[in-house]
Amino acid sequence: MKSFIDLAKQRRSVRLLSGEQITKEELEVLLEAMRWAPSSFNDQPWRIIYALRDTEKWKTFLEFLKEGNRKWVSKGGVIFIVLAKKFLDYKHKVARHHWFDCGGACQNLSLQATELGLSACALGGFNEDVVRKSLSIPSDFDIPVMMVAGWPRQGLLEKLTSSRKSIAEISSEGTFLDKWNKKL
Ligand SMILES: Cc1cc2nc3c(=O)[nH]c(=O)nc-3n(C[C@H](O)[C@H](O)[C@H](O)COP(=O)(O)O)c2cc1C
Repeated sequence: MKSFIDLAKQRRSVRLLSGEQITKEELEVLLEAMRWAPSSFNDQPWRIIYALRDTEKWKTFLEFLKEGNRKWVSKGGVIFIVLAKKFLDYKHKVARHHWFDCGGACQNLSLQATELGLSACALGGFNEDVVRKSLSIPSDFDIPVMMVAGWPRQGLLEKLTSSRKSIAEISSEGTFLDKWNKKL
């Protein structure tokens, strides 16, 4: 069995997708993974609107994306719009962590996709106003991100590289590091 860290390192934002469909069963597994993310007060503020490839809404969802994303995402299997509820179910109090909670749900989605051999990528490049208007999304919901999941083109994953800051750059025992405040 793969260790968690191997799965985390294997996850990649693949932008060369095959154009194959994703089944309803695979979609269900991705949504189930999102469902089990932790959230502040267990409020589960994520709401997900999706379009599967070759369905009526697919083209509309592609049009929500900025130019640079549209072409490669068109080879994906499913596109998600992630909504974040701005108020808690509990007494309609203002939520402070709804974006954070949605981030966790999206990470669950990405890791689950990786385990299935799929790739998921977050998409900040979309036209929020157009999405909101077109799908009549009320102002009580933010739209932090869209996501795509699809099948990577064969033989691609092994070739992809990605870099990360070192542990020394991002962590410190008990103190704020001045170097973090340097303007690069
Ligand atoms: C909130 C968010 C928004 C992103 N938006 C886009 C996007 O619009 N288009 C894109 O190609 N990648 C997008 N990405 C993917 C990042 O570029 C990618 O995660 C980063 O370069 C690290 O690469 P890796 O995911 O392969 O490790 C986004 C990622 C996040 C977390």
